[in-house]
Amino acid sequence: MRIKSVEFAGAIGQLGQPGPADVAGLPQVAFAGRSNVGKSSLINRVLGRTRTPIARVSQQPGKTQEINFYRVRSDMGDFCLVDLPGYGYARVPQAIREKWKPLINGYLTAGEHLAGVVQLIDMRHGPTPDDLQAIDYLAELGIPALLVLTKADKLTATQQKDALRKLPEKLGADPEQVLPVSAKSGTGIDDLLDTIGAVLFPVVEAEAGGE
Ligand code: GTP
Ligand code: MG
Repeated sequence: MRIKSVEFAGAIGQLGQPGPADVAGLPQVAFAGRSNVGKSSLINRVLGRTRTPIARVSQQPGKTQEINFYRVRSDMGDFCLVDLPGYGYARVPQAIREKWKPLINGYLTAGEHLAGVVQLIDMRHGPTPDDLQAIDYLAELGIPALLVLTKADKLTATQQKDALRKLPEKLGADPEQVLPVSAKSGTGIDDLLDTIGAVLFPVVEAEAGGE
């Protein structure tokens, strides 16, 4: 999948608030993961916006407390990319953390056009209990999850191999379902884009394969 252009469509910060009208009816893909795992950085890289970032990359973890929607044009069709607030950051006050849970749950359960979730896990540390809970929850809701290992550039080649041998089992996934990426070096980004395209536009993909 090739990205043509992207614009910020709006945000929601309260449970029950409707999503932006601008993206109504478009297929959606959401990025989820622990705070500081690299969601916003990966979104900028995937959208080709590393030099002029569109998703805010926080110096302060836990800063993104809203659900942000981006309207994207691609060669496969228009879609909506969603940046979910990060979970599990200990220094965020409990009251704020408790607010996110219903907000994220509300989005996931109301998302009639949600084609799948890109679930990010830090490749250096493997899944936290929060990560495993998130993966279980997506499975429970029947939402397809793409498991992506972030910050691959921070590991040596040997450490990467080691992580790729151990992590799929910990995540309860087949090795080919787990994709290492780096927003910094660009590793895995083309594969991720193609996988997202196949999740968003399954019919287009099938037609292309049948030619
Ligand atoms: P919240 O919005 O707080 O949930 O965080 P986030 O998941 O959006 O993480 P963000 O993209 O803001 O990145 C957090 C930190 O990790 C920043 O300092 C980034 O520069 C860094 N980072 C993100 N991706 C990568 C990567 O692929 N490689 C390296 N080396 N650093 C990264
Ligand atoms: Mg962020």
